[in-house]
Amino acid sequence: MEIVRAEVMGVCFGVRRAMECAEAALHAGHQVSTLGPLVHNPQETARLARLGIRAVDVPEDCTGTVVIRAHGARPDVFAALRAGGRTVVDATCPFVRKSQQIACQFADAGHAVIIVGHPDHPEVQGILGYIRTPAYVISQLDDVANLPPDLTPGVIAQTTFNENTFGEIARAITRRYPATLVHDTVCSATRDRQDAARTLATRVEAVYVIGGRASSNTNRLAEICRELCPTTFLIETADEIIPADLHGITRVGVTAGASTPDWLIDEVVARLRGL
Ligand code: F3S
Repeated sequence: MEIVRAEVMGVCFGVRRAMECAEAALHAGHQVSTLGPLVHNPQETARLARLGIRAVDVPEDCTGTVVIRAHGARPDVFAALRAGGRTVVDATCPFVRKSQQIACQFADAGHAVIIVGHPDHPEVQGILGYIRTPAYVISQLDDVANLPPDLTPGVIAQTTFNENTFGEIARAITRRYPATLVHDTVCSATRDRQDAARTLATRVEAVYVIGGRASSNTNRLAEICRELCPTTFLIETADEIIPADLHGITRVGVTAGASTPDWLIDEVVARLRGL
């Protein structure tokens, strides 16, 4: 069986940068906690915890140096941490920071900000925290009809959203509100991984997408691959590969989400080689 790796996959620049910030703080002798896991990948989160980088859910539980992960956080979270005397290392991904700034510019110019993304995603929650005017989060085409009348929207995307779907939704918004401004804020790392996943899925008979089930970008990769190659599996670890699923398959593809470490990808490839 031939194993084909996507040309671009795995840990992105923003996640790598956040992990390096946390490891640097640890090596400087600080206690380190992160607000939410640095990566949406339980195996890598467990490895970081063993190193001493503790993920907590609420600001009150943070101890020592607090690393704000690549998704960013609401400004009131930064304020609460600093008011509580914590040292804050801001590892917000520069692409997310840019989205926050564009959202603020739209709002300041009187546009109703529409984020095309997932309402509960921490990046989206963080961006909403920077906007003082009413804002809307939508994730599918049908949602456009439910927006209020008489808006002048300024539209951005969650950085990890499916770029094609974003394009369709943005066009539908513009048809409904002709004065709409659109800024495609899907990040280049997401775009490159999605393009590589599309190419991969057309070349193979089955695809393994490796990444956390809670990871938005991993789920988008699985969605993209499944459209082109129905035999697509989203797995977190090599143990989830079921040999019977590959019966009769001669060429299998592998791709991975933006927070999937290289060691997990290598384990999956090694297991596939062993079959
Ligand atoms: Fe940043 Fe894009 Fe990664 S926004 S965290 S480079 S997926």
